[in-house]
Amino acid sequence: MHPLDPLFKKNREWSESIRRRDPDFFPTLSRQQAPAYLWIGCSDSRVPANEICGLLPGEIFVHRNVANIVVHSDLNCLSVMQYAIDVLQVKHILVVGHYGCGGVRAALSNQKFGLIDNWLRHVQDVKGKYTDHLACIADESARIDRLCELNVIDQVINAAETTLVQNAWERGQELAVHGWVYGLHDGLVRHLGISLSNADELAAALKTDWARKKAALVDV
Ligand code: CO
Repeated sequence: MHPLDPLFKKNREWSESIRRRDPDFFPTLSRQQAPAYLWIGCSDSRVPANEICGLLPGEIFVHRNVANIVVHSDLNCLSVMQYAIDVLQVKHILVVGHYGCGGVRAALSNQKFGLIDNWLRHVQDVKGKYTDHLACIADESARIDRLCELNVIDQVINAAETTLVQNAWERGQELAVHGWVYGLHDGLVRHLGISLSNADELAAALKTDWARKKAALVDV
C-alpha cells in the first residue's frame, strides 16, 4: 500500500458523505463561491479554519502563514486580501493567532531555524514594541501566549492599514477586521477586543495601550 493511500480513502468517504446529504453540493459549489469571511491564520496543522468554525467548503476564504503575519510587502497575503475584498466582497477579515504558537515562541526566545528566522523577524518587531511589558511576565508560556495576543493585535492593525482595506472603507464597503486567538488546549476561539470597521476605529486602536489592556485569558 502506498503511504498516501489512506488520504485518498478518507477523501472518497468524505465526498460520499457530503453527496449523500446533498447531491447538488459539489455541482453548486463548482459554479461559484460566496464566502462572507476571510481567515488569516497560522499554518500550524492544529488550527484548521473550516473545522474550528464548523464551516463547509465555500464558506470561508483562507490565507495561512507561519505566525499569522500581515506584512505590507507580502504579495501573497495582499493578493488574497484584494481578491477577498474586491471580488468576493467578504464582510469580515478574521486574523487568528493561537496560544502556544511555535513561530511566536521561536521569535521570543531567539531560536534559530534557518530561512524562517527572517520571516519571524516580523514577530520580533512586535516583541520589541512590548519589551518592558513582556519582561514583567515571569512564566515563559504565559509570556509566549501574551505575545501571541499582541502579535494578533498588531497584524489586525497592519491589515486595516493596507490600501485594500482603506480603499474599501473609503468607498463605503461594509468590512471589519477582527482579532481572535485560538486555544489549542480547548478548541475555543476568543475575541481579543479589537474589531475595526472604519478609519475612526483604527485611529482609536492606534492610540490604545494594548499591553495594559487585558485582552483575553493570559493572566499578567
Ligand atoms: Co502558530
